[in-house]
Amino acid sequence: MYNPNSIPITAYSNITDKEIFSFEDNYGAHHYERLNLVVRQAKGCWLTDISGRRYLDCLAAYSAANPGHHHPKIVQAMTEALLGNYASVISNVVYTDPLGIFLDKAANFAPQLAPRFGKKGNKVLPKNGGVESVETAIKMMRYYGWKKKGIEDGQQEIIIFDNNFHGRMITVISFATTKKYREGFGPLTPGFVSAEYGNLDDVKKLINKNTCGILVEPMQGEGGMKVPPAGFLRGLRDLADENDFLLVFDEIQVGLGRTGKRFCFEHDNVVPDGLVLGKALSGGLVPLSIFMTNSELMDMAFTVGSDGSTFGGYPLACVAGIAALTVLEEEKLVESSAAQGAKLKAAIEKIAQQSPHVKEVRGRGLFIGIEVVDGNAMDFCRKLLELGLIVNDSHGHTIRISPPLNINDEEIAFLIESLKKVLL
Ligand SMILES: Cc1ncc(COP(=O)(O)O)c(C=O)c1O
Repeated sequence: MYNPNSIPITAYSNITDKEIFSFEDNYGAHHYERLNLVVRQAKGCWLTDISGRRYLDCLAAYSAANPGHHHPKIVQAMTEALLGNYASVISNVVYTDPLGIFLDKAANFAPQLAPRFGKKGNKVLPKNGGVESVETAIKMMRYYGWKKKGIEDGQQEIIIFDNNFHGRMITVISFATTKKYREGFGPLTPGFVSAEYGNLDDVKKLINKNTCGILVEPMQGEGGMKVPPAGFLRGLRDLADENDFLLVFDEIQVGLGRTGKRFCFEHDNVVPDGLVLGKALSGGLVPLSIFMTNSELMDMAFTVGSDGSTFGGYPLACVAGIAALTVLEEEKLVESSAAQGAKLKAAIEKIAQQSPHVKEVRGRGLFIGIEVVDGNAMDFCRKLLELGLIVNDSHGHTIRISPPLNINDEEIAFLIESLKKVLL
């Protein structure tokens, strides 16, 4: 458990923290406001600094480290791949067995998507960082609009939502609400219209003959840990069916057990036409993301030459992906997220009742947001760091709690005690 005293560690280097700060300062882009901590080792739910001080990771790399850092089974699979000479990137002109096995596993990991297009099952297109697969989804929706709905190419429109977060590349930042993400980076990509998250009437007003899809997070992470109102996702599903366009869920942050279900959309019993996954898909060890949809749709939109990625679906990532999905099932991480999340949320709600600082507690599973009264969540995150916890804000006003899904009772107790110290 938490031990504030030094423990011996094997670090990558013994370069001092001060030197690391100056390397970043001198040679790195300053695009992050970092907490003053250099992590030298990461194992399970814990991060360790050079002195051996341990920090409980309540952020898990924004859901990427869902099975805990360096999960032994995933590390073993990857180590064997490296030592066995079947890990490196291979030219995409030939097949590899890790990709084939990963595609089979991933395609069958979700329910049949877009069943209105046929019962042949799902197909998967792999990429690296999450934003790449969001772009694949955007391509899919636009292609559908052009090919199947007869929308003039270039006129396709996709409905997205206020305070969305889908990544940082040009097309995706083009429809970001946050000005800082966009300003000065134009020309931006057209073809997106924004509705208020949770407001179906707003969505209805935006639908027209050029609408080819809706891209939505079934729970907003970066947008302030927002759970949509009951019936919202079902309403989107109905609108997509009635008006013949595609409904795509971005579950990069909330999928794969994070909210106490395998997929967040299961809370609402709504199945999308397309699904984007990333982050935890490789257990947080290498970048791996996918866009998944019905076979018929995938075959329609992507044909030889119409898409590609050097590293997308390369053997090491696929080996990690197969192991991570296996761990998720075998170690019942979804069930753990539901059970530990329920305990943690109940305790946080109790703290909130007595706290002068808490405005609202939101969340599902181990994806919990504590909105603070004065809107500066980072002040609390810094205090939590002093106590030995890594936490950050969502949308400025909300403390985001998203530890690895196998966090144990003792670790939860430490988290709750620490929250009491800063919130009461
Ligand atoms: C919902 C959602 N979509 C997309 C992304 C982008 O993923 P990546 O940073 O791997 O490109 C993120 C990252 O936080 C996310 O939370």
